[in-house]
Amino acid sequence: SGDQLSLTPPMGWNSWNCWGVNVSQDKVISSAQAMIDKGLTGHGWTYVNVDDGWVSPQRAADSSMVPNEKFPDMKGLGDWLHERGLKYGIYSSPGTLTCGGYLGSYGNERKDADTYAAWGVDYLKYDWCSYERIAASDTTLETYVKPFRVMQTALQAQPRDIFYNICQYGLKDVWKWGGANGAQSWRTTEDIEDTWESLLQIGFQQNKLYPYAHPGGWNDPDMMIVGQVGWGENLHPTRLTPEEQYTHVSLWCLLSAPLLIGCDLSKLDDFTLNLLTNDEVLAIDQDPLGKQAQRVLQTPAYEVWLKPLEDGSHALGIFNMQTTTNTVSLPWKSLGLQNKQQQVRDLWRQQDLGTVKDEYSVTLPPHGVRLLKIGK
Ligand code: GLA
Repeated sequence: SGDQLSLTPPMGWNSWNCWGVNVSQDKVISSAQAMIDKGLTGHGWTYVNVDDGWVSPQRAADSSMVPNEKFPDMKGLGDWLHERGLKYGIYSSPGTLTCGGYLGSYGNERKDADTYAAWGVDYLKYDWCSYERIAASDTTLETYVKPFRVMQTALQAQPRDIFYNICQYGLKDVWKWGGANGAQSWRTTEDIEDTWESLLQIGFQQNKLYPYAHPGGWNDPDMMIVGQVGWGENLHPTRLTPEEQYTHVSLWCLLSAPLLIGCDLSKLDDFTLNLLTNDEVLAIDQDPLGKQAQRVLQTPAYEVWLKPLEDGSHALGIFNMQTTTNTVSLPWKSLGLQNKQQQVRDLWRQQDLGTVKDEYSVTLPPHGVRLLKIGK
């Protein structure tokens, strides 16, 4: 049932940040095949999510949604994924249109949920966008919640579990009501881009949302901008520096965020592959306690985020917020950790640093991170 559906955050791939609405069944399969061939599946990567751009403008005579010419066989795609142990995600909107101007589910929610279930869909991203026009000047909370509740009811009537992502950009404090309306995750922000400014505006703004993350319900700060991205135009390597990419992945893991890779996996380079297959880092995201990190220290030079883990230890992220190299010294006391000595492990390097007394010091490159496990 719903509250058992996502005891840890989902991990997978989504078509949007690379293909935009130029997505196709072949492109989805090429990334899914690469996910298998490059060994990502062995590290927990499972969902393969088709975003906007797959549906045809006209419904069938029986009013069901049909895919456009880029997706010859939606059920076949689901079967193909399931035969390989992967999960199948799809995208729609509660309005008449999606964000990209494709057909939405308004007035046909039950029909669409039936169709998705018949195709074997495991995950639905349901994106507010054009419902804005239906809501018009009515900005009451109930108006914003209602369309998501309608789809929740339609999904719950299905014979299979379907992960439900409410994509509402943090409007009306979606984190306060998303879970109660059936969602396993809810988008907390506008769309991410492959820039440091975007990481600042999205990832580093999530602190106040820590009370809302829990097993079965996750804050979603959008997808990961690593590897080859382009939103359907000019596929290019992410503009984040390598250090910024370590920061991005570290922060998303500390946030217990859904990890949805947004790049063309068929063009995965070794750096990005390593970034996405460090089990000790991914374990921070997937920790069963399911608590989100809190920012415990913040200066113009650095931020420190601390996440409690199930085994009683903590994950600690020390982030250099500046474009210069910086040395940070952290007395354990300043983090609220009472012991004078702590066991420290560097998670990216998978290296024990032994017992560290009183304080930890680190020199970080521009926009760099040190991700540690403290205490066990
Ligand atoms: C919105 C969402 C994106 C993507 C597009 C599709 O912008 O926030 O993640 O799904 O719509 O059009």
